[in-house]
Amino acid sequence: MVMLENQRILITGATGSVGGPVAKALAQTNSVVAIARFGDDAARADLEAHGIHCTKVDFEACDYSEVDGDFDYALNFAVAKTNNFERDLIANAESLGFLMQRCSAARAFLHCSSTAVYEPNGHHRFVESDPLGDNHRAFGFMPTYSISKIAAETVAGFAARAYGVPTTIARLSVPYGDDFGWPHFQLAMMRAGNPIPVHTDAPSEYNPIHIDDIIHQIPALLAAATSPATVVNWAGDDVVSIEQWCRIIADVCGLTAKFAPTTTTIASVACDTTRRAAITGPCTVNWRDGMRRLAAAAQHES
Ligand SMILES: NC(=O)c1ccc[n+]([C@@H]2O[C@H](COP(=O)([O-])OP(=O)(O)OC[C@H]3O[C@@H](n4cnc5c(N)ncnc54)[C@H](OP(=O)(O)O)[C@@H]3O)[C@@H](O)[C@H]2O)c1
Repeated sequence: MVMLENQRILITGATGSVGGPVAKALAQTNSVVAIARFGDDAARADLEAHGIHCTKVDFEACDYSEVDGDFDYALNFAVAKTNNFERDLIANAESLGFLMQRCSAARAFLHCSSTAVYEPNGHHRFVESDPLGDNHRAFGFMPTYSISKIAAETVAGFAARAYGVPTTIARLSVPYGDDFGWPHFQLAMMRAGNPIPVHTDAPSEYNPIHIDDIIHQIPALLAAATSPATVVNWAGDDVVSIEQWCRIIADVCGLTAKFAPTTTTIASVACDTTRRAAITGPCTVNWRDGMRRLAAAAQHES
């Protein structure tokens, strides 16, 4: 097990919904440097208040000369979603190669990927060797996402071999916490009285994973890093449908979950978690408890 104490850690995507809580948790016991564009001054100030050193880098520039490459560990939680293929392939894929080259002395590199890389296949439980494809195409508003995440994995795999940096490529399913994630967005839709899009091939199944477990599993995922890279589904223990989790959230909040079946939304991406469980052990937050926590936190805010 990697001990994340008194380590020098580089993190990207720390102004994002997943990378933010991860960076703050790591900063409690480590020296953390965050790189991003930091267009939001308040987000940068918040990270700095947690003792995180922030350096401005735009991944599209593929220039890491301002970044000191001397890190023990590096974690990539950045993702560009401009919907422009040229820009997103550079920021998410090509640039990652330069970043890993810069951090090639690191003991391990964690690249956060997505289960968006799998070719849709109904209610199949995806294993890491399954065919890749574009499961976000039908979604409409994220046309570059699946393809640039697949490209990023390929670059991460190349860099793991070429620069000898032990790497884990972790395909995240549905991350969520008290104040972010797909379930949080769906709660806002329910509060507005809007129906939740679900796939006509019901139910719409995923493996939600709580931010507490994401943070908790990082040391084990870093310890599993290898060259060539280790690829793993970073998915919660249970296959759960949008219909199931929305009903639980609605119940806590006194709302009614209404659904709008459509083919123009993401189809199920249920995962086999055997490999992840062997690396990290079981999740600690049961999905029902996590969804109730999210709903209760939202009640508290309102
Ligand atoms: N959220 C989900 O439901 C979900 C599901 C599966 C997998 N994932 C994966 O989880 C990871 C984190 O996702 P997230 O939802 O937390 O992302 P997010 O909230 O959209 O944040 C994206 C991050 O990327 C940074 N970024 C974007 N373009 C950049 C650029 N050109 N140069 C430098 N930094 C850039 C942003 O920082 P600045 O804007 O400050 O530059 C921000 O910190 C990603 O790998 C994503 O693919 C997320």
